Amino acid sequence: MYKILEKTQFSEKVFKFRVEAPQMAKKAQAGQFLIVRIDETGERVPFTFAGWNPDEGWIEFIFMVIGKTTMQLSTLEPGDEILDITGPLGNPTEMHDGSWCVIGGGVGLAIAYPVARMLVESGHEVHAIMGARTKDLLLMVPQFEELLDSDHLHICTDDGTAGEKGVVTVPLERLCQAHAIDQTFVVGPVPAMKFSAITCEKYGVPVIASLNPIMIDGTGMCGCCRVTVDGETKFACVDGPDFDATKVDWNDLRARQAAYRTEEGQSLKAYEEAMCACHR
Ligand SMILES: Cc1cc2nc3c(=O)[nH]c(=O)nc-3n(C[C@H](O)[C@H](O)[C@H](O)COP(=O)(O)OP(=O)(O)OC[C@H]3O[C@@H](n4cnc5c(N)ncnc54)[C@H](O)[C@@H]3O)c2cc1C
Ligand code: FES
Repeated sequence: MYKILEKTQFSEKVFKFRVEAPQMAKKAQAGQFLIVRIDETGERVPFTFAGWNPDEGWIEFIFMVIGKTTMQLSTLEPGDEILDITGPLGNPTEMHDGSWCVIGGGVGLAIAYPVARMLVESGHEVHAIMGARTKDLLLMVPQFEELLDSDHLHICTDDGTAGEKGVVTVPLERLCQAHAIDQTFVVGPVPAMKFSAITCEKYGVPVIASLNPIMIDGTGMCGCCRVTVDGETKFACVDGPDFDATKVDWNDLRARQAAYRTEEGQSLKAYEEAMCACHR
């Protein structure tokens, strides 16, 4: 059992949990992830490490409520316990020297923020591009603003309700043209990752995407997280989650992510109805 030590609410749907996990805290590295199972009937869901402290024996993860499990997780409070947390899983992000552009789109901002923070803490120059469809879906703006000055923070929304109107590739292209970045890290919806890859490739800037296919065991056994990279089948949990974004088969990833949409919708509806019944 893993005890929740602290719960921080960043916005209506975004939370950070600090959890007691002394063994994991000794081993976690930036870019790795953990898998949570809330209780015996819970599904296994992956989250990226957002922080850890080996001396105090805790780890942190940030999550956005988007479906049944993340909604259930958001109801837990400090003192409550999570049945299982497995990790650290996956390979750490390779933090090459030079200046970085970290791009997060939608829920990907929750994953991009710890990577940007760790790059800043390790002395890299970092530009962050935050993208969302509209202002209300932009996550963690205060956290990014605390981390980076306005010259290094680029906010954009599809409808222009915050920052500049447009998609993440607009400021990315500017940074590439200005030779301001040596390396890009991108995480978010498939179109954001795909078109960031195309833009970077055009300017010869190496680009890593943190892929987020559905995962179950996280150890290379179930095959659920199969992705196609450079024509080869890879398991995102053990071979990734970071891959050369210019080599990823994005259509394949998008199809795999959507494989259980109907069941996910049904599961959320059933959970919400059960919660409503409890409160009647
Ligand atoms: C390596 C990795 C790291 C991640 N890190 C973070 C993070 O730090 N913060 C964060 O908010 N989210 C993160 N995610 C996404 C997170 O796992 C999903 O948001 C979560 O599983 C949704 O579960 P749900 O039951 O609430 O939603 P559901 O309604 O079940 O699913 C909504 C969508 O979430 C994705 N999803 C559902 N189940 C899984 C699963 N078992 N594995 C992967 N994706 C799934 C699918 O795209 C699905 O369509 C990460 C995903 C991966 C693969
Ligand atoms: S999650 Fe099962 S093989 Fe990767």
